[in-house]
Amino acid sequence: MNKRDYLSVLDLAPEETKAVIEEALRYKRGAEYPKVLQGKHLALIFEKPSLRTRVTFEVAVRKLGGSLTYLAPQDIQLGKREPVKDVARNLARWIDGVIARVFEQESLEVLAQYLPGPVINALSDQEHPCQALADYMTIWETVHRWRVRLAFIGDGNNVATSLMLMTAMFGGTFVLACPPGYEPPRTVVEKAQELAKKTGGNIQILHDPKQAVKGADFIYTDVWTSMGQEAEAEERRKVFQPFQVNPELLQEAPEDVKIMHCLPAHRGEEITDDVLESEHSLVFEQAENRLHTAMAILVRVYGGR
Ligand code: CP
Ligand code: NVA
Repeated sequence: MNKRDYLSVLDLAPEETKAVIEEALRYKRGAEYPKVLQGKHLALIFEKPSLRTRVTFEVAVRKLGGSLTYLAPQDIQLGKREPVKDVARNLARWIDGVIARVFEQESLEVLAQYLPGPVINALSDQEHPCQALADYMTIWETVHRWRVRLAFIGDGNNVATSLMLMTAMFGGTFVLACPPGYEPPRTVVEKAQELAKKTGGNIQILHDPKQAVKGADFIYTDVWTSMGQEAEAEERRKVFQPFQVNPELLQEAPEDVKIMHCLPAHRGEEITDDVLESEHSLVFEQAENRLHTAMAILVRVYGGR
């Protein structure tokens, strides 16, 4: 079998993506999981901090019978202490695969090129595909549909990009409301729009949050300043102020709209405390589902199902 990497939402076909989420739903209901990682050792390479991604993958790897080494940002200084391809060619001699959180998507591509085992994207500046899996699992559990209207309010960042691609894949409607200049990369938007044409989906980029949330099934937001953009934080706080998810914005949305956030949240910035804590909020379901989907993606890439 060819090795499978999961660097982007687009690395799994729509039917495979649904199958991974359905497998995750079975694990959540208590199904036994295959020990596909028995005798295997993985490295978790993290260039940025993490709570959810690190812990869920560590738990998942162990539950599937594997072992792992966590490499923190300062441990190997990916690409600085030595080139990424050299890191990969060393690891290739010792271990069976990598789960990596990086700045540049290209680092993942180089790791994947030089490692015979699978490489999984645990977040890059471009995408967060494992988050999108957990989010669509949460969406399915909530409305039992793959085609939904998802309004993303805020930055056209990695999380927005992966959700845009997955929504396009499933034939849903993705409406991003962001300040001008903060859209996801044009090539990726075009790719999502092309995909949506085939699936009957719809991708819209707007600059008016109130318009974006009209008719929404789900409102999603994420931090205004992603990891690595700290120098822009002050400027971003000003530019994004009209894009806060707060009770006033919720008044423009259907009464039963659900609120999503990948966490960590900056309460009082992109979302108010009352909205995050409200009965509309799904944030801790999303967090729980990171574990079930981490197991299912590992089973898919290592076990072929
Ligand atoms: N949502 C998410 O990826 O959280 P962490 O940064 O804590 O892993
Ligand atoms: N967009 C955020 C997501 C964190 C899970 C970041 O990249 O920092």
